[in-house]
Amino acid sequence: MEQHLPQPLLELVQDISGQAAELGQRLYLVGGVVRDLLLGYPNFDLDLVVEGDAVKLAQKVAETSQAKLIAHHRFGTAKLRYGNSTLDLATARKETYARPGALPAVTPGTLKDDLIRRDFSINAMAISLSANDYGELVDLHQGRRDLEHRLIRILHPRSFSDDATRILRGVCYEQRLGFQFEAQTARLLKRGLPMLDTISGDRIRHELEHIFEENQPELVVRRLGELGVLARIGPSLKGDGWIAEKFDTARRLKKSTQLPSLYFCLLVYSFSENDIEQFLARLNIPARLSRVMRDTVRLKTSLPILDKPSLKPSDIYYLLRGYEPVAIQANAIAAESPKAHDYLQLFLAKLRYVRTALNGEELKKLGVSAGPQMGKLLEVLHKAKLDGQVRTKADERRLALSLSLGKER
Ligand code: CTP
Repeated sequence: MEQHLPQPLLELVQDISGQAAELGQRLYLVGGVVRDLLLGYPNFDLDLVVEGDAVKLAQKVAETSQAKLIAHHRFGTAKLRYGNSTLDLATARKETYARPGALPAVTPGTLKDDLIRRDFSINAMAISLSANDYGELVDLHQGRRDLEHRLIRILHPRSFSDDATRILRGVCYEQRLGFQFEAQTARLLKRGLPMLDTISGDRIRHELEHIFEENQPELVVRRLGELGVLARIGPSLKGDGWIAEKFDTARRLKKSTQLPSLYFCLLVYSFSENDIEQFLARLNIPARLSRVMRDTVRLKTSLPILDKPSLKPSDIYYLLRGYEPVAIQANAIAAESPKAHDYLQLFLAKLRYVRTALNGEELKKLGVSAGPQMGKLLEVLHKAKLDGQVRTKADERRLALSLSLGKER
């Protein structure tokens, strides 16, 4: 901890631990950060587990510091926000699953209970932050040994059927860390694939979103394909080399806020309109992203129109203007035809921003009356601007006058 965590963060954690002691509670660092500390990987996402009431502790800490508190009494969890960093505090808990795939019933428990409920041995270690054994590793499930052997191991045979999202999580760790599934875990994973059907769309989608935050999500997607996980989530999903290449291209565009949506669009690029509807429903994809994904597949079927040597900019604009920009970007990445690719990029980089210099008010001053006729005239001006037939406001005025006079005659 001393070596890998920034000093201010460490001091903060020690202060919280002191306050926990005043409440008679014990505090531990747990989960992913412990794994990454032992691997020497940077991770400042601190998850703290309290034997005792975490919300009470977080309230006490917030009263005596600058921290902002977000408490969830029902779950016994709290977030403390200090500027840009956050600390998650959770009451140590015991979980029981009423049926596979259901969210677990939670009751307060000990650290031991809290560790056994976790997904993999490498995520089930804790470091004590209490004064009497500060810094001591609590490793009840041989997590350290598995880290050394680079193995992903579940803690008990029902793990994947209790919570099949662990299948996706496990593959994610396997690829991120370059680890392997331990033999029995690999067998149970294969056997547990049908349990993915018990997982709600929201939870599956959430895991995909998590995967899309990886540096190279295509590695995870390919492996999910190999293991038969993708086919279980959506019969038409593939994790082939095409996806890998296109994900890589998407990442190079560096529009990071759009990247997760772009990955979703590329993932379903080969889908028919029927496939896409099934997939959107299965994953309960929110309306905005659904529109982008539908547009992606719909635009794909129009790409042949863009494979012509000489389209006018206005033709391109009026073909593409109704589609979501991310769907157009996905098609630009996926298009086989270089011509179509260039037209799509031209639209995104330039054509979609082209506006006429004259607006309706100014046309009125030139004697054009409001109504459909004005709409038509504005469209003609816009097309002329897109195609470079008018450049300046004066050009537009001349064209508008000649057209409206022409009408009068
Ligand atoms: N966890 C679990 N089962 C799940 C989800 C989470 O057991 N289905 C546990 C794991 O011990 C995990 C911890 O909760 O380490 C925190 O979850 P999360 O933040 O998703 O994982 P991290 O390992 O912290 O994060 P990351 O995957 O980004 O490294």
